[in-house]
Formats: sequence, C-alpha cells, structure tokens
Amino acid sequence: MTTEYLDLVEWLRECKNDRDGVITPEIQHAGDIIKAGGLVAFPTETVYGLGGDGLNAEASKKIYAAKGRPSDNPLILHITEMEDLYGIVEEIPEAACILAEKYWPGPLTMIFKKKDCVPYSTTGGLDTVAVRMPSHKAARALIKAAGTPIAAPSANSSGRPSPTKASHVKEDLNGKIEMIIDGGEVGIGLESTIVDVTGETPVMLRPGYITKEMLDELFGKVEIDPVITTLHPDPNLKPKAPGMKYRHYAPKGDMTIFEGESEAVVARINAEATEAKKNGHVTAVLATDETKDKYNADYVFSVGKRSNPEEVAHNLFDVLREFDEVKADRLFSESFSGEKLGLAIMNRLRKAAGYNIIKVD
Ligand code: TXA
Ligand code: MG
Repeated sequence: MTTEYLDLVEWLRECKNDRDGVITPEIQHAGDIIKAGGLVAFPTETVYGLGGDGLNAEASKKIYAAKGRPSDNPLILHITEMEDLYGIVEEIPEAACILAEKYWPGPLTMIFKKKDCVPYSTTGGLDTVAVRMPSHKAARALIKAAGTPIAAPSANSSGRPSPTKASHVKEDLNGKIEMIIDGGEVGIGLESTIVDVTGETPVMLRPGYITKEMLDELFGKVEIDPVITTLHPDPNLKPKAPGMKYRHYAPKGDMTIFEGESEAVVARINAEATEAKKNGHVTAVLATDETKDKYNADYVFSVGKRSNPEEVAHNLFDVLREFDEVKADRLFSESFSGEKLGLAIMNRLRKAAGYNIIKVD
C-alpha cells in the first residue's frame, strides 16, 4: 500500500488563534478515508495516534494488524464534543463530569460503560470503553471531518516507544496504512492519563501529564493502580488497563536504570560503559543537560534539564528511539523523581528498561 502524506504544519500555524481549525478539502479527504474504513495516523497533544472508525469493527481489526498489537488490548475513542460522549457510553458518572469540565479537551482518558454501538473489537472484548477529547487542532479537525469517534492507539508498532514526530510514525507504519498527517513535534510527549470513573472513586490506571496530585486536588485522594508504581512486577498483579502489562516503550538494547546521587550515578555508569565497550558492545546513555558532558559511552543523549520535567517528558520517547537508531546494545539511564509528572516519566522508563533498576550508593 502507498501511504499518503499530509503536511499540516503550516495549517497549524495559520489557525493558531482559532478555537478549532478550518476543515480544508485535504483534511476532508483524510476524514473520508476514516469513514471508508481506512487508517490515518495523526498528531495529538500527547503522542501521534493511529486512527480508524471506532464504531466499525473491521477498522479496529485493521488497527491491531497494522501495529501488530494483541487484540485483548483495547483502543481509546477520540471525540470532540460532550454530545459525542452520549452516543457511546451508558452513563456519565459525576466524577466524569468534574474531570471533563476541568481537563477536556486535553490529555485525559476516562473509562466508561460502553453502549452496544461500540464494537467489542474496539474494546478488546470489554464492556467498558476508553474515551478522550483531544485539544490538538489537527486531531479535532480530523475527527470532525470523519463524523465518527476515532479509535486511536499510539501510532507505533506494538512494543516500540510511542511516536512524538511524524518521522517516528513513518519508521513504524509506512506502507501499512492509508495516510500519515504531519503536525510537527507533539507538545507533551507521553500518552494521556487514564482514569477509570466506573467505580465509587476514580482510579488512575496510567499516569500522564494530568498528575495524581492534580486528581487528588479535585477528589481528595484518588486510587492508583498498584502496577503503576511497582518496582518488581508481580505476574499475579493484573493491571486494570490491559495495555500496561505488555513490555512497552522498549528500545532493542539491554537497558538499565541507575538510581542515586548524581555524581555516584555518573561514576557507576561510566564504569559499566567502560566494561561493556571492552566486551565489544555499543553503549549509550540517557542523560540530562546537567550531566551529558560527563559520560564516556559511545553515545550520550540528553532528555533536557532535570529541573524541567516537562522537557524530559517531551524528549523521552525520542531518545529511546535514538538508542535504536545508533544500534546501541548496552543502554544506561539516569533516574528521575517520581513526583507529579515524574510518576509518568518513571513509569515509562521502568517499562522501557524491563524493570532493570540498580540503586547506587
Ligand atoms: O495519549 C493517548 O492516550 C494516545 C493518543 C493517540 O490519544 N493513545 C494511546 O493509546 O496511548 P494506546 O492504545 O497506546 O493506549 C491505550 C491504553 C492501553 O493501556 C489500554 O489497555 C487502555 O488504554 N485501555 C483502553 N480501553 C480500556 C478499557 N476499557 N479499560 C481499561 N483500560 C483501557
Ligand atoms: Mg501505546
């Protein structure tokens, strides 16, 4: 299949001050592809998504096939207005109204009881459905042009880091889908926060830009799925978001995270890199601006200033992909505080490293 390519970078610049972007004939064409059961990758404020008609069981199956994703891992439906929600969910609990009011459109996904019109192939066989209202103008224009909720997982091959640039999507999906929309680099760089609102109290299933602290502020204390914070995954502990159980975000090399005081971590990583190089390995470090000049590995990539977690989140997946780009097979990473946005950063990093974590004294 030839993948069409639509560049909306200039369009995004032009509609910067509008509430929603204008639907051009090119965007309508993209919407028509979705309506006809095809797949279009598109930018959102979190990561790029791989979109198909969420109410069309065949389109969902194509999404799983293009990504090589296990079919028990459900998709998120993307909408633009609260009215769209009424058509796909059985009930809208009070907590969902509070969250929607505060954080939609934005990087928040909520789990609801699904209506019959949402096919089981979209929800991975579950009676619940995940819904998000993105704020990104290109995403909103595409959903409006398609005239249907768009099912969209992150637009990476299953297991690889989520894409934060159109070039990442191309690497994974070129020739497998009908179209890629380029909206430049995404803003946030980590997938949305997922909150289950079907129970008595809201439960966080995946951390993201909307932090636990922000949710606590709205509801008192919210619960958090224990798999998010675990350091040693227990095979008996089943995550409530099925996708959280898969090895994910993983570069191809063997990755270890080093935790501890900065000087000690630098010294330890340098010792490990020296040894690995001696044994013929290609070494790479995930560093920060503060430390990047102190390493002796073959490749050193900075995720930005340690003091700026938003910058770290923004660059994280790009650096994980760089590791593969340079074909490094021994990967060493610094660790970050698990507070606020750091919880999402460390959750992705631990999974990328397959929970290989070493404490350095
Ligand atoms: O930021 C995002 O959320 C991006 C953009 C494209 O919107 N999408 C994304 O989708 O990250 P994906 O498919 O990579 O991750 C969806 C996660 C998976 O962990 C999945 O198991 C969980 O959401 N999920 C989906 N439906 C669910 C449900 N009904 N119950 C529990 N978890 C669900
Ligand atoms: Mg994903």
